[in-house]
Amino acid sequence: MSCKRVAVLISGRGSNMAALIEAAKDKSYPAEIVLVVSSRPNAGGLLVARSANIAAEVIDHTEFGKDRAGFERVLQAILEKHRIDLVCLAGFMRLLTSEFVKKWQWRVLNIHPALLPAFKGLDTHKRALRAGAKIHGATVHFVVPEMDSGPTIAQGAVTVRHNDTEETLAARVLKVEHRIYPLALKLLAEGRVQVVDGRCLIDGVPVPDTKNLVPDPT
Ligand code: GRF
Repeated sequence: MSCKRVAVLISGRGSNMAALIEAAKDKSYPAEIVLVVSSRPNAGGLLVARSANIAAEVIDHTEFGKDRAGFERVLQAILEKHRIDLVCLAGFMRLLTSEFVKKWQWRVLNIHPALLPAFKGLDTHKRALRAGAKIHGATVHFVVPEMDSGPTIAQGAVTVRHNDTEETLAARVLKVEHRIYPLALKLLAEGRVQVVDGRCLIDGVPVPDTKNLVPDPT
């Protein structure tokens, strides 16, 4: 099977992007990170991408304001120029239009720092602590027009500790993110993920499945 050409879309520090780049260094990994696109010119992840010799482009979201279609026309052209097969959103702070999402259906992944469908949106760790959640984690899912809602490919859980702060919990969840994102991209790039009735099957078996639920590393 051919190695899939992947673009990672970021807006910030890009630690998930870095985890994907690291995983893709393995010759047996079925995907290659060939492009990083940032919606912010000062995103720290751009430096990481460039130092790994990966093409890194900026589409400054402030130049487009509410013109989401205009932003996406530029994005689409860059993705085409680099012959991108799959797109990974990794801390990309811009909603995509349903037209764009439909054009790229089942080819765009996102990572969300919570066990979806719990805690969609922002400030997930703070909200999990406030809600008294005992289990928290991260989810890799397909992107659909509704935010943080597509079929789940992989989840990883951590136990919430009585003395956790937002920062300590975020740090443990981030470690899980860095494990499940490369795993989910691998499964997709190998053609092992199928969406049936709005849910993912992996190798024909519904998710969750213990082999894709990554346990708390600590
Ligand atoms: C991660 O927690 C990710 O789940 C969320 O945004 C954060 C991005 O972090 N969508 P990084 O830029 O990958 O370090």
